[in-house]
Order: sequence, then structure tokens, then C-alpha cells
Amino acid sequence: MSAPVAADVTVQPAARISGRVRCPGDKSISHRYALLAALATGRTTIAHYASGADCRSTLACLRRLGVRVDVGPDLDPDGGLAVEIQGRGLGGLCAPQGPLDAGNSGTTVRLLSGILAAQPFTTTVTGDASLRRRPMRRIIDPLTAMGARVTARADHLPLTITGGALRSIEWTCPVPSAQVKSAVLLAGLHAAGRTTVHEPTATRDHTERALAAFGVDVVCDGLTVAVQGGAALRAASLSVPGDFSAAAAWAVAAAARPGSAIEIDGVGLNPTRTALLAVLRRAGAVIAADAGPLTAGEPVGCLRVAHRELRPVTITPDEVPSLIDELPMLAALGTCAGCGITVTGAAELRAKESDRITALVDGLRALGANTEERPDGFSVTGDRPLAGGTADAAGDHRLAMAFAVAALGATGPSTIIGADVVAVSYPGFFDMLTAVRSPE
Ligand code: S3P
Repeated sequence: MSAPVAADVTVQPAARISGRVRCPGDKSISHRYALLAALATGRTTIAHYASGADCRSTLACLRRLGVRVDVGPDLDPDGGLAVEIQGRGLGGLCAPQGPLDAGNSGTTVRLLSGILAAQPFTTTVTGDASLRRRPMRRIIDPLTAMGARVTARADHLPLTITGGALRSIEWTCPVPSAQVKSAVLLAGLHAAGRTTVHEPTATRDHTERALAAFGVDVVCDGLTVAVQGGAALRAASLSVPGDFSAAAAWAVAAAARPGSAIEIDGVGLNPTRTALLAVLRRAGAVIAADAGPLTAGEPVGCLRVAHRELRPVTITPDEVPSLIDELPMLAALGTCAGCGITVTGAAELRAKESDRITALVDGLRALGANTEERPDGFSVTGDRPLAGGTADAAGDHRLAMAFAVAALGATGPSTIIGADVVAVSYPGFFDMLTAVRSPE
């Protein structure tokens, strides 16, 4: 367990980043293992389950649905919990007393909605102020087409879902979204017949890999994935890889500072998540990623990143879905001398935990960056070192971490307002920052 983070944190410049680190359990994979465990028959054990608030929200919602969830003591400084879940089988959940609270977690609300759509009772799901601003039409439409009754306030939370017998559908996602794909597949597990999802661009495929780990036959063919309804899920013994999106902080910090090198062990290297590495290579960094044998279908291994002279990079729209959570961290890289970054085709960033274009540009500018906001992206020029300053994390964990990494390269100290929001995905982030930095 890591020490609680102060509301506002001041980050001093660093000369170098170095060391060997492990990251908290992957957030996306943890949610999926917990949800599928609840639907399985038997007891599932999950090692290194993400200890951040988002994945705890999923466990809390499952408990409210009658699922027995046992969590071991929070002793792992890297951010991993030992979780045991007694599955209730397909159709075994119980009607909760009162609304479910997904907190800040979009993955919880969207994936869980796919399961609730099939339950023979009515559930209301809500979340914090940030989650209540995020778009839900993208899941309401397919789940309604499958036969659930879903009501929302102007396409936002709270959602009230009356589930029941579902029909299978063939669904074409209008936006690339692993959450939407997963919601439809989870509903499809309960539907009569075969449910098929077509994606416009490939998104993270953890649901597909996790379903297979629970014994479900999943058919993947390019941008299409299908499941057959009614198949029983088998409980499993699982271990969650380190979170690549958390590792992105240390990869970027090492790439950014001369003389830096970092080694990240036990990290997920699923190719639908690692597009950041190609961008870091284009920017000039030295990268070695060595995956070992698959763990429950997921590539896991060691990532090494070292600094080399940087050059500017451009992110093209087709790269965005597999980089979506790393774009704020790449903006931090863009502030480094000789670097710079241009991102287009990323309007989806405005629908995240904050408006991640406006809040990112505002925060980096407050630290001294030369940056410009666009409707569908942003640009940052690495033409001058950051002076440091005060940046508001805007209630967004990924922005708090990106501002902290950018601040390492400033000439003066930087204060991040609302830095404690890192607890959503990486409670030990600032402890690790202290461990890997060498002072100026
Ligand atoms: C996630 C999918 C992505 C990502 C989010 C986690 C997931 O969201 O940004 O942090 O676990 O499926 P979208 O599906 O909305 O793109």
C-alpha cells in the first residue's frame, strides 16, 4: 500500500530518471477479470488486481449485485491486490438495493451495463460528476437493440437498465471504443445466438483474450469479433500484468531526460496497447520490449527505455485508438528540447475523465509550454524549456501524471493542483516518481 497523496503536489526538476520498476495491475484487464469471474461458475483468484479506485468501484458494484468478493490486505507497494471472486454463473446476479456507483470509472459503467442488460431486474447506475458528463448513447443504442430497456438523462448517467431475455445482434461501432465492443460482447454472452461486433479501427482486445481465459469460444477475424450466447464460463486462476498505461509515465520520463534509462518488469505488452513504443522510437528513444510466454493470453514482459536525442513527432488519426490513454503523456514528451508533437483525429479525448484537449493544453501552458488547442487534437513545440508553474489536473488522473512528468524537465518547481486524483489508477505514482528521479 502506498501513502495517501496530498491534494496539491510540487514536483522539482530532475536531472535524470533511472531504475527498475514494476507497475500496478492493468486497469482494463482487472475490470474484465472481475466481471467475468462474477459470471463464471466457481471461485476465481486474481493476483495483482489493480488497487486504484476505478477497479475497486467494479468490485463494489459486484458486491451490491450479490457477488462474494474477498480482497487480501493492500500490502503490495506496486499496486496489486489478491482478489477472490465466487462466481454466480450466467443469470445468477441479484437485484441491488438502490443505485450502483461506478465512481470515476467509465469502464465499470459501460461494461457492467452490458451485463445488467441481461438481468431480469431493474438497476440504476450512476457515478461521480466527471462520469455523469460522459456520453452513454454509444452503449444505450446497442443494448436497446438487443432488447434491454435503458433510460438516461440526455444520454448521460444515471442510467436505468431493465434487463431480460436478449436477442443477438450484429453491431457496427460508430466510434472505435473497446468499452462499447465489450459491453455488446458481455450482453451477447447472455443472448440467444451469435453476437457480432465490427470495429472501425482496432481497439484494445483484452475482453476477447479474457473471455478465452474463462473458456468462452470467441471468434476474432480482423476488425470483427463474435461470441455465442449461453456458453458457461469456467472460473480461472489469473494474474494481472503491470499496466502499460502506468508504465508510459516512466517510459516517457526516461525518453525525455538526457542520461536516463528505465527498466519496467512484468508489464503488459499487448500490441493493441503499445503503440506508444512506436512513437517513442520515432521520437528517437532507444526501446527494447521483450515479451515472455503469454499469461492468460496476454503478452507480458520487460520494457527498457533510454534517452537519445529527440526529434518532433506527428500522431496520425489511425494511431489514436491504440494510444488514446497515452496522448497526455506524449504531450509531456513534446515539451522537451528538440521534440514537439502534433496530434489530430483525437476529438474522443474530449469525452474522457476531463475534456483532455482543453485541460491538457491549459495545464501545459501554465507550466510554460508553447502549445495550441485544435478541435480534434493539439500541438506542442519543444522550442523552449518549461519554466514550471501551477497546473490543474482538472480531476483527471492521466493529466496529473502527465503534468508531473512534464515538470521533471522544467527549470523551476511545478505544483499540480488536485494531484491526489492519481489514486484513480496509480495510488503509488508519486512514491515511484521520487524513487526514479535523480535531483538536478
Ligand atoms: C478502456 C477503453 C478506452 C480507454 C479507457 C479504458 C477499456 O476507452 O480510454 O481508459 O478498458 O476498455 P474507450 O473504449 O471509450 O475508447
